[in-house]
Amino acid sequence: MAGSEPKRTGSAGRMLRLALFACACALLAGCGGDRSSLVIVTTNDVGGKTSPCGCHTPKGGLARKATFLDSVRTKHANVLALDAGGFFPATDDEREAAPFMLAEMARMGTAAAGVGANELRYGYAFAREHARSAGVPLVSANLVKYPDGQPAFEGWRIVESGGYKVGVFGLLSRTAELGPARDSLRADDPDSCATTAIAALRKAGAEIVVLLSQLGKAEGESLATRVKGIDLVVGGGGVPVLPSGQKVAGAIALYGGNQGWHVGVADVRLTKERRVLDVAAKTVVLDPAVRNQPAMEARVKAFEDSMNAHLQARDAAMGAGVTPGANVAHYVGMSNCIKCHVPEFEQWKQSPHAKAWATLTEQHKESTPACVGCHVTGYREPGGFRTADDAARLGNVQCESCHGMGTDHRKWVDEGNTVAEATCRKCHTETTSPTFTMAAYRPHVLHTPPAGLKPLPESPAKRLMREGKAPH
Ligand code: HEC
Ligand code: HEC
Ligand code: HEC
Ligand code: HEC
Repeated sequence: MAGSEPKRTGSAGRMLRLALFACACALLAGCGGDRSSLVIVTTNDVGGKTSPCGCHTPKGGLARKATFLDSVRTKHANVLALDAGGFFPATDDEREAAPFMLAEMARMGTAAAGVGANELRYGYAFAREHARSAGVPLVSANLVKYPDGQPAFEGWRIVESGGYKVGVFGLLSRTAELGPARDSLRADDPDSCATTAIAALRKAGAEIVVLLSQLGKAEGESLATRVKGIDLVVGGGGVPVLPSGQKVAGAIALYGGNQGWHVGVADVRLTKERRVLDVAAKTVVLDPAVRNQPAMEARVKAFEDSMNAHLQARDAAMGAGVTPGANVAHYVGMSNCIKCHVPEFEQWKQSPHAKAWATLTEQHKESTPACVGCHVTGYREPGGFRTADDAARLGNVQCESCHGMGTDHRKWVDEGNTVAEATCRKCHTETTSPTFTMAAYRPHVLHTPPAGLKPLPESPAKRLMREGKAPH
């Protein structure tokens, strides 16, 4: 990254000044920052993003978040950091980033975090054990073990800062993808679990009740309208970025988008009777004006270097196994693509192509060669999918299924890349997709869908499946 050197010295100077200021304060009794309120700093759906995006204006990154928290903590005596969940990476390939995220969240003093689909992507035990060893309490009031209904994590917890007692609980949407945890966990009814958690929290002395939501915006708001007693909703699980807190019945909801580009800040004041008087909430963008905290920047760099080295070594090993000779064109897998094409990935992730592999595993057909070809990427081609062991890297109809082998990328940059109808037709055949026409189907795969696009009518494959018959 060009220009990171001057930035580093700049912020080191600032840190020194902050440190001197803190020392001077310590000498003056009573000078410990503003104590009249509690400041809650929130994140949601960070998706394993350790560094700022490669966007026109780079946003996010742990090193900026650390600086932001440092500065809030110098100004205010009572600060609480919470995360609504969704902080694990969004792909199977970036698994290594999961424990790193947890360790750094702990270092930034995260008092509790919610549980989203990303946290379950690598299995229940993985999330539970890594959170435990990092020391980040995970809370979810409605995620329970199947079949006995015992809580999968803590349902709720009270966290304290400067005498403020904050009750925190988490909720996950019942439609959330539970990944490999789907056989051992289930999400119960959010309303009744929320009611139970809030009652328990108030009984335990909570003065402020915070919901760490993985319900998305609409579901979260309707819950906060029906269930009384929530003061702050930290929105997550697919929410937009809104500059200020939104009033939802008796609560204030904060929406910080995703990928850690924004943090939420809620300033909570209590009455003399220790009830919530008001909540002033807003989101703040972590743009280049927020300097990197040097210590965090160094740890992120060390981590990313080692992860990249692992990925390269693995790709090289796989390439050597699959392609005789170094320069043969081959599939590379989408973990590569999404580093640079975030908007395309975000759209793709929501499309049926992103669950084509799950469709097979649900039918227990993941090892049936007659099924696999069209539900994965590059089946039996160089670098492409061969066995179910490749699912994490090449399962689903990924970017390269339509755009071609990633090793040809140079050519696409120079000459553009248009997906021909014949490419779709390799999978959308007369048998598998009798209703396919380019005119009807293509708008649904465009990464910027046309305005007013209506859902396709139910496909024959879906209908047959619903009727309990073989889809093709
Ligand atoms: C290092 C960043 C980077 C990576 C990694 C990357 N791309 Fe690109 N890609 C670009 C840039 C830059 C362009 C050219 C500018 C543009 O069209 O956005 C481009 C262009 C493209 C285009 C052509 C767009 C057009 O103009 O028709 C496609 C399709 C594409 N990339 C797909 C992929 C796929 C699939 C992968 C993974 C195999 C991938 N990219 C990996 C940066 C990247
Ligand atoms: C590698 C095979 C493959 C290729 C190439 C492919 N698709 Fe698909 N497509 C699938 C599979 C498999 C599904 C079903 C996914 C699921 O739900 O499990 C699907 C589903 C869809 C759907 C959703 C249909 C519905 O009923 O909602 C659309 C739309 C679609 N494809 C359009 C396209 C278009 C347009 C192209 C070419 C630009 C294309 N696909 C290329 C395999 C492919
Ligand atoms: C020649 C490519 C191809 C093969 C082989 C194939 N599929 Fe599909 N499959 C598709 C396409 C394309 C769709 C999407 C059809 C549409 O929406 O029009 C699809 C859709 C489905 C769906 C419906 C998913 C949904 O929710 O919409 C199921 C289930 C499914 N396939 C299972 C299978 C099974 C099981 C096999 C093996 C017996 C198999 N497929 C083999 C291409 C294929
Ligand atoms: C089902 C097929 C399909 C899949 C899968 C797919 N794309 Fe595309 N992509 C298209 C189509 C269609 C276009 C529009 C251009 C065209 O007509 O070929 C496009 C356009 C693009 C462009 C040009 C700029 C833009 O956003 O329109 C980029 C870059 C790109 N795709 C990257 C990706 C990446 C990265 C992935 C994987 C995350 C991906 N695509 C997955 C079909 C697909």
